[in-house]
Amino acid sequence: MWTETNPEADAREAQRIAATAGKELCARLNLDRADALFVMGSGWKEAADSLGETAAELPMTDLPGFVAPSAAGHAGTIRIVVRGDQKLLVFFGRTHLYEGYGPLAVAHGVRTAIAAGAHTVVLSNACGGLNADLPIGEPALIRDHINFTARTPLIGARFVDLTDTYSPRLREAIAAKNPGIGEGVYAGWYGPAFETPAEIEMMHRLGADMVGMSTVLEAIAAREAGAEVVGLSLVTNRAAGLAGKKLSGEEVLEVARNAIPRLRPFLDGVAATVLGESE
Ligand code: HPA
Repeated sequence: MWTETNPEADAREAQRIAATAGKELCARLNLDRADALFVMGSGWKEAADSLGETAAELPMTDLPGFVAPSAAGHAGTIRIVVRGDQKLLVFFGRTHLYEGYGPLAVAHGVRTAIAAGAHTVVLSNACGGLNADLPIGEPALIRDHINFTARTPLIGARFVDLTDTYSPRLREAIAAKNPGIGEGVYAGWYGPAFETPAEIEMMHRLGADMVGMSTVLEAIAAREAGAEVVGLSLVTNRAAGLAGKKLSGEEVLEVARNAIPRLRPFLDGVAATVLGESE
Protein backbone atom coordinates (compact mmCIF):
# COMPACT_ATOMS: atom_id res chain seq x y z
CA MET A 1 0.00 0.00 0.00
CA TRP A 2 2.83 2.42 0.88
CA THR A 3 4.76 2.26 -2.40
CA GLU A 4 5.99 5.85 -2.86
CA THR A 5 6.18 5.31 -6.61
CA ASN A 6 3.55 8.02 -7.27
CA PRO A 7 4.04 10.24 -4.22
CA GLU A 8 1.15 12.69 -4.54
CA ALA A 9 -1.32 9.92 -5.30
CA ASP A 10 0.05 7.94 -2.36
CA ALA A 11 -0.42 10.97 -0.10
CA ARG A 12 -4.06 11.38 -1.20
CA GLU A 13 -4.60 7.67 -0.77
CA ALA A 14 -3.04 7.81 2.72
CA GLN A 15 -5.47 10.57 3.77
CA ARG A 16 -8.38 8.59 2.32
CA ILE A 17 -7.36 5.41 4.15
CA ALA A 18 -6.91 7.33 7.42
CA ALA A 19 -10.43 8.80 7.03
CA THR A 20 -11.83 5.30 6.44
CA ALA A 21 -9.84 3.87 9.36
CA GLY A 22 -11.11 6.67 11.63
CA LYS A 23 -14.73 5.85 10.70
CA GLU A 24 -14.16 2.15 11.19
CA LEU A 25 -12.48 2.76 14.53
CA CYS A 26 -15.54 4.65 15.77
CA ALA A 27 -17.90 2.01 14.42
CA ARG A 28 -15.96 -0.93 15.87
CA LEU A 29 -15.56 0.68 19.28
CA ASN A 30 -19.06 2.09 19.42
CA LEU A 31 -17.80 5.62 19.65
CA ASP A 32 -19.43 8.78 18.29
CA ARG A 33 -16.09 10.58 18.38
CA ALA A 34 -12.75 10.55 20.21
CA ASP A 35 -11.49 13.63 22.04
CA ALA A 36 -7.75 12.98 22.32
CA LEU A 37 -5.09 10.48 21.28
CA PHE A 38 -2.33 9.14 23.54
CA VAL A 39 0.44 7.26 21.71
CA MET A 40 2.26 5.08 24.21
CA GLY A 41 5.84 4.70 23.06
CA SER A 42 8.70 2.63 24.43
CA GLY A 43 8.45 2.24 28.17
CA TRP A 44 5.10 4.00 28.61
CA LYS A 45 2.76 1.06 28.06
CA GLU A 46 2.37 -0.04 31.69
CA ALA A 47 1.74 3.53 32.81
CA ALA A 48 -1.37 3.80 30.62
CA ASP A 49 -3.59 2.01 33.13
CA SER A 50 -3.66 5.25 35.12
CA LEU A 51 -5.55 6.91 32.27
CA GLY A 52 -8.75 5.19 33.37
CA GLU A 53 -11.00 2.20 32.80
CA THR A 54 -10.74 0.40 29.48
CA ALA A 55 -14.07 0.66 27.66
CA ALA A 56 -13.02 -1.35 24.60
CA GLU A 57 -9.93 -2.56 22.74
CA LEU A 58 -9.02 -3.79 19.29
CA PRO A 59 -5.85 -4.78 17.42
CA MET A 60 -4.53 -1.97 15.21
CA THR A 61 -4.19 -4.34 12.28
CA ASP A 62 -8.00 -4.77 12.22
CA LEU A 63 -8.14 -1.26 10.73
CA PRO A 64 -7.10 -0.32 7.18
CA GLY A 65 -3.52 0.87 6.69
CA PHE A 66 -2.02 -0.29 10.00
CA VAL A 67 1.03 -2.53 10.14
CA ALA A 68 1.85 -4.59 13.22
CA PRO A 69 4.46 -2.72 15.29
CA SER A 70 7.70 -4.68 15.59
CA ALA A 71 9.59 -2.73 18.29
CA ALA A 72 9.87 -4.25 21.76
CA GLY A 73 7.24 -2.86 24.14
CA HIS A 74 4.87 -1.98 21.27
CA ALA A 75 1.77 -4.15 21.55
CA GLY A 76 -0.23 -2.94 18.56
CA THR A 77 -3.50 -2.42 20.43
CA ILE A 78 -5.98 0.48 20.38
CA ARG A 79 -7.88 1.15 23.60
CA ILE A 80 -10.75 3.48 24.45
CA VAL A 81 -10.71 5.04 27.89
CA VAL A 82 -13.73 7.00 29.08
CA ARG A 83 -13.16 9.97 31.40
CA GLY A 84 -16.41 11.71 32.33
CA ASP A 85 -18.12 12.52 29.06
CA GLN A 86 -14.84 12.46 27.10
CA LYS A 87 -13.06 9.63 25.34
CA LEU A 88 -9.37 8.97 24.97
CA LEU A 89 -7.89 6.83 22.24
CA VAL A 90 -4.79 5.06 23.54
CA PHE A 91 -2.49 3.52 20.92
CA PHE A 92 -0.10 0.92 22.30
CA GLY A 93 2.77 1.14 19.87
CA ARG A 94 3.55 2.99 16.69
CA THR A 95 5.28 2.51 13.37
CA HIS A 96 8.84 3.83 13.17
CA LEU A 97 10.77 4.93 10.08
CA TYR A 98 13.38 2.28 10.82
CA GLU A 99 10.77 -0.42 10.17
CA GLY A 100 10.99 0.59 6.52
CA TYR A 101 7.36 1.35 5.59
CA GLY A 102 7.95 5.05 4.98
CA PRO A 103 6.66 8.32 6.47
CA LEU A 104 3.01 7.83 5.41
CA ALA A 105 2.80 4.62 7.44
CA VAL A 106 4.47 6.38 10.38
CA ALA A 107 1.85 9.16 10.34
CA HIS A 108 -1.13 6.86 9.72
CA GLY A 109 -2.08 6.31 13.39
CA VAL A 110 -2.17 10.01 14.16
CA ARG A 111 -4.16 10.76 11.01
CA THR A 112 -6.64 8.00 11.84
CA ALA A 113 -7.16 9.27 15.39
CA ILE A 114 -7.68 12.83 14.16
CA ALA A 115 -10.16 11.53 11.57
CA ALA A 116 -11.96 9.88 14.52
CA GLY A 117 -12.27 13.31 16.16
CA ALA A 118 -9.15 13.64 18.35
CA HIS A 119 -8.24 17.32 18.63
CA THR A 120 -5.21 16.75 20.86
CA VAL A 121 -2.38 14.30 20.23
CA VAL A 122 -0.06 13.26 23.07
CA LEU A 123 3.09 11.58 21.76
CA SER A 124 5.20 9.71 24.29
CA ASN A 125 8.59 8.14 23.73
CA ALA A 126 11.85 7.06 25.31
CA CYS A 127 14.88 9.20 24.61
CA GLY A 128 18.57 9.58 25.26
CA GLY A 129 19.53 12.71 27.17
CA LEU A 130 22.11 15.13 25.75
CA ASN A 131 21.45 17.78 28.35
CA ALA A 132 22.83 16.79 31.76
CA ASP A 133 20.06 18.76 33.48
CA LEU A 134 17.50 16.17 32.38
CA PRO A 135 17.43 13.39 35.01
CA ILE A 136 17.50 9.76 33.88
CA GLY A 137 14.26 7.91 34.62
CA GLU A 138 12.13 11.07 34.57
CA PRO A 139 9.73 12.37 31.93
CA ALA A 140 10.48 15.66 30.17
CA LEU A 141 8.34 17.87 27.95
CA ILE A 142 9.29 18.36 24.32
CA ARG A 143 9.48 22.11 23.66
CA ASP A 144 10.47 21.81 20.01
CA HIS A 145 12.14 19.35 17.68
CA ILE A 146 14.87 19.06 15.08
CA ASN A 147 13.97 16.60 12.34
CA PHE A 148 17.19 14.77 11.51
CA THR A 149 15.38 12.00 9.64
CA ALA A 150 15.32 13.93 6.36
CA ARG A 151 11.80 12.53 5.85
CA THR A 152 8.33 14.11 6.16
CA PRO A 153 4.76 12.81 6.08
CA LEU A 154 3.76 15.80 3.90
CA ILE A 155 3.98 15.41 0.15
CA GLY A 156 3.50 18.28 -2.29
CA ALA A 157 3.28 22.02 -1.67
CA ARG A 158 2.04 21.79 1.91
CA PHE A 159 3.70 24.64 3.78
CA VAL A 160 2.57 23.83 7.30
CA ASP A 161 3.60 26.28 10.03
CA LEU A 162 5.63 24.53 12.77
CA THR A 163 6.34 27.57 14.96
CA ASP A 164 4.43 26.24 17.97
CA THR A 165 4.38 22.56 17.12
CA TYR A 166 4.25 21.49 20.80
CA SER A 167 1.37 23.47 22.30
CA PRO A 168 2.76 26.24 24.55
CA ARG A 169 -0.64 26.40 26.29
CA LEU A 170 -0.62 22.71 27.25
CA ARG A 171 3.12 22.68 28.08
CA GLU A 172 2.61 25.54 30.48
CA ALA A 173 -0.39 23.86 32.11
CA ILE A 174 1.45 20.52 32.48
CA ALA A 175 4.56 22.23 33.88
CA ALA A 176 2.42 24.12 36.39
CA LYS A 177 1.17 20.78 37.75
CA ASN A 178 4.68 19.23 37.71
CA PRO A 179 7.09 21.78 39.18
CA GLY A 180 10.68 21.20 38.10
CA ILE A 181 9.82 19.01 35.10
CA GLY A 182 12.50 19.17 32.41
CA GLU A 183 11.83 20.58 28.96
CA GLY A 184 13.91 20.53 25.83
CA VAL A 185 14.46 20.14 22.11
CA TYR A 186 13.98 16.58 20.80
CA ALA A 187 16.16 15.43 17.92
CA GLY A 188 14.36 12.93 15.69
CA TRP A 189 16.76 10.27 14.40
CA TYR A 190 16.03 7.67 11.71
CA GLY A 191 17.62 4.73 13.60
CA PRO A 192 17.56 1.83 14.19
CA ALA A 193 21.23 2.11 15.17
CA PHE A 194 21.77 4.45 18.09
CA GLU A 195 23.74 7.59 17.23
CA THR A 196 27.53 7.76 17.16
CA PRO A 197 29.20 9.97 19.78
CA ALA A 198 30.15 12.35 16.94
CA GLU A 199 26.50 12.61 15.86
CA ILE A 200 25.49 13.30 19.46
CA GLU A 201 28.14 16.03 19.68
CA MET A 202 26.75 17.56 16.47
CA MET A 203 23.16 17.47 17.74
CA HIS A 204 24.17 18.99 21.04
CA ARG A 205 25.95 21.88 19.31
CA LEU A 206 22.87 22.42 17.16
CA GLY A 207 20.62 22.77 20.19
CA ALA A 208 19.20 19.32 20.91
CA ASP A 209 18.55 18.24 24.52
CA MET A 210 17.26 14.73 23.83
CA VAL A 211 17.26 12.23 21.00
CA GLY A 212 14.94 9.45 19.89
CA MET A 213 13.62 7.56 16.87
CA SER A 214 9.98 8.63 16.70
CA THR A 215 7.55 11.50 17.28
CA VAL A 216 8.73 14.18 14.83
CA LEU A 217 6.82 12.95 11.77
CA GLU A 218 3.69 12.27 13.83
CA ALA A 219 3.88 15.79 15.26
CA ILE A 220 4.14 17.27 11.76
CA ALA A 221 1.14 15.25 10.54
CA ALA A 222 -0.88 16.30 13.60
CA ARG A 223 -0.08 19.98 13.04
CA GLU A 224 -1.01 19.69 9.37
CA ALA A 225 -4.40 18.38 10.49
CA GLY A 226 -4.81 21.20 13.03
CA ALA A 227 -4.53 19.12 16.23
CA GLU A 228 -2.73 20.36 19.35
CA VAL A 229 0.39 18.34 20.16
CA VAL A 230 2.05 17.38 23.44
CA GLY A 231 5.39 15.53 23.43
CA LEU A 232 6.46 13.51 26.48
CA SER A 233 9.96 12.01 26.55
CA LEU A 234 11.13 9.58 29.19
CA VAL A 235 14.89 10.02 29.52
CA THR A 236 16.21 6.46 29.73
CA ASN A 237 19.95 6.97 29.23
CA ARG A 238 22.68 9.48 28.58
CA ALA A 239 23.13 9.71 24.81
CA ALA A 240 26.02 7.88 23.10
CA GLY A 241 29.46 8.88 24.28
CA LEU A 242 28.24 10.88 27.28
CA ALA A 243 28.20 8.15 29.95
CA GLY A 244 31.37 6.22 29.16
CA LYS A 245 29.43 3.04 28.41
CA LYS A 246 27.62 1.34 25.56
CA LEU A 247 23.88 1.80 24.87
CA SER A 248 21.42 -1.06 24.85
CA GLY A 249 17.74 -1.41 24.07
CA GLU A 250 17.35 -3.63 27.18
CA GLU A 251 18.71 -0.89 29.43
CA VAL A 252 16.25 1.58 27.91
CA LEU A 253 13.35 -0.75 28.78
CA GLU A 254 14.74 -1.53 32.25
CA VAL A 255 14.99 2.16 33.18
CA ALA A 256 11.50 2.66 31.79
CA ARG A 257 10.12 -0.20 33.91
CA ASN A 258 11.49 1.42 37.05
CA ALA A 259 9.94 4.76 36.08
CA ILE A 260 6.39 3.40 35.80
CA PRO A 261 5.26 4.31 39.34
CA ARG A 262 6.18 7.94 38.60
CA LEU A 263 4.77 7.94 35.07
CA ARG A 264 1.32 6.76 36.22
CA PRO A 265 0.20 9.84 38.19
CA PHE A 266 2.02 12.06 35.71
CA LEU A 267 0.08 10.63 32.77
CA ASP A 268 -3.24 10.90 34.61
CA GLY A 269 -2.47 14.58 35.23
CA VAL A 270 -1.59 15.12 31.56
CA ALA A 271 -4.93 13.57 30.54
CA ALA A 272 -6.79 15.86 32.96
CA THR A 273 -4.99 18.87 31.50
CA VAL A 274 -5.49 17.88 27.88
CA LEU A 275 -9.20 17.23 28.42
CA GLY A 276 -9.66 20.43 30.43
CA GLU A 277 -11.05 18.53 33.43
CA SER A 278 -11.70 20.74 36.44
CA GLU A 279 -9.65 19.96 39.56
N1 HPA B 1 19.01 7.38 21.13
C1 HPA B 1 17.93 7.20 20.33
N2 HPA B 1 16.78 6.71 20.76
C2 HPA B 1 16.70 6.41 22.07
C3 HPA B 1 17.77 6.56 22.95
C4 HPA B 1 19.00 7.08 22.45
O1 HPA B 1 19.99 7.26 23.17
N3 HPA B 1 17.34 6.16 24.17
C5 HPA B 1 16.04 5.77 24.02
N4 HPA B 1 15.65 5.92 22.75
